[in-house]
Amino acid sequence: MKIVFADPAKTPAGCVAVFAIPERSLLGYGAALDKATQGALRRAMAASRFTGKKGQTLGVMAPNGLAADRVVIAGLGAAKEMTRRSAEGVGGAILGDANGAGQKALSILVDAPSGSPLSATELAARIALGLRLRSYRFDKYRTKEKPEQKPTVTSVTIYVPGATAARKLYAGLEPVADGVFLARDLVSEPPNVLYPASYAARARELAKLGLKVEVLGEARMRRLGMHALLGVGQGSGRESQMVVMRWDGGRRGEKPLAFIGKGVCFDTGGISLKPAGGMEDMKWDMGGSAAVIGTMRLLAGRKAKVNAVGLIGLVENMPDGNAQRPGDVVRSMSGQTIEVINTDAEGRLLLCDVMWYAQEKFDPRLMVEFSTLTGAIVVSLGHERAGLFSNDTRLATQLREAGSKVGEKLWRMPLGDGYDELLKSEIADMKNVAGGRGAGSIVAAQFLKRFVQGNRPWAHIDIAGTAWSSKGDATTPKGATAYGVRLIDQFVADNYET
Ligand code: BES
Ligand code: MN
Ligand code: ZN
Repeated sequence: MKIVFADPAKTPAGCVAVFAIPERSLLGYGAALDKATQGALRRAMAASRFTGKKGQTLGVMAPNGLAADRVVIAGLGAAKEMTRRSAEGVGGAILGDANGAGQKALSILVDAPSGSPLSATELAARIALGLRLRSYRFDKYRTKEKPEQKPTVTSVTIYVPGATAARKLYAGLEPVADGVFLARDLVSEPPNVLYPASYAARARELAKLGLKVEVLGEARMRRLGMHALLGVGQGSGRESQMVVMRWDGGRRGEKPLAFIGKGVCFDTGGISLKPAGGMEDMKWDMGGSAAVIGTMRLLAGRKAKVNAVGLIGLVENMPDGNAQRPGDVVRSMSGQTIEVINTDAEGRLLLCDVMWYAQEKFDPRLMVEFSTLTGAIVVSLGHERAGLFSNDTRLATQLREAGSKVGEKLWRMPLGDGYDELLKSEIADMKNVAGGRGAGSIVAAQFLKRFVQGNRPWAHIDIAGTAWSSKGDATTPKGATAYGVRLIDQFVADNYET
């Protein structure tokens, strides 16, 4: 799908989108089309439930007096309440309507309502981003799709006064889509295709964007003492990997921000085997790592003025004759020993070693880690928000604010010594699970907190409920969401760019 910007000319043919705000008030271009059609648009609005609320669309077919085949009236919502994110949603909704109606060429006539905090050019650029994000498909394994199942829109022209400025703004936003698409692709890949080594190879490709990519195999990780991570992968025929990606766009010598991700390419549970039903979902147990790699691609793509390092632990949690047993004791890179009670609580085992490595090697200013860590966070927060755990209120606030701007919402969860005590082991420094049924997500976070050095600002974001969506939204087709990519990008842009 091609997106171009042009200065307004005469009314185009094909599918034409115009805007309205509540209550049924057409903006300038819409009003002009209404006039040209002797009031067809107003009559269509009056004959429907369309009021101009944000995200609403109303298709009007072949109105008399126009060359257009279809006019889509898109609701912007109240002018004062418009945001960049809501504008992206409008773009996504327009594309959804046009594809649903089998349209090929889409034109959007952009004007901003008075009182809107967004200028027309900004609105145009955000609409373009929304269209692009909505257009994502993962169809490489489909060979028998019928034409009517495929999206039809192949070209989009966005007409806006000051098209050059809008085009420039959008060019600055395109890396967002590139980062999000990379993360969605990786999460969508089946586990026979995406396993630690093939995943690391995908990460290596990012070197061409100026990222420094290093891959550590099992031999090197053994020498480093990363036995907690290695224990998880030990029942798999595929070699475990750790990938370190550096982006040095900031001041020379300034300590980096560290982003860490759980990359369990498939989680069977190991010897503590999961039930068969739904196990296929565990291909996306690498969603945290995808958020990190997508973020690194995005930071490089827009040449962010920041020093950042992304570290992902890549393993497959499988039960073979060499697999880790419940009861095994492993020594983590930190020196702390862990009694593995449940081999299905594997994420924390690999993350504690990746976190330790990150701190020893980079002494980062802060650490933000993403993982599909616990089913319990889905019980707590559903699919609406990810769980945020942090030892630092400033960091937690920065993350929450960034998330709410880009539609990746967070909810801060508690930590506390009482939860930490539940990890006491009879034989080692800690167990990997508490044993009881309560507070599973918090206990997991407490486990990770034991691997934070000193008072270094640290956040753990549990994305088990948000990495994948079974329903999708205006800018995210159902499936992999890439949750975290935009959150971190916004967090960096708002707080850490020089
Ligand atoms: N990858 C799972 C968590 C998960 C569950 C992610 C559902 C997405 C959807 C994780 O490795 C796991 O198995 N966690 C266990 C922890 C338990 C053994 C303490 C869980 O949540 O049941
Ligand atoms: Mn598991
Ligand atoms: Zn897992």
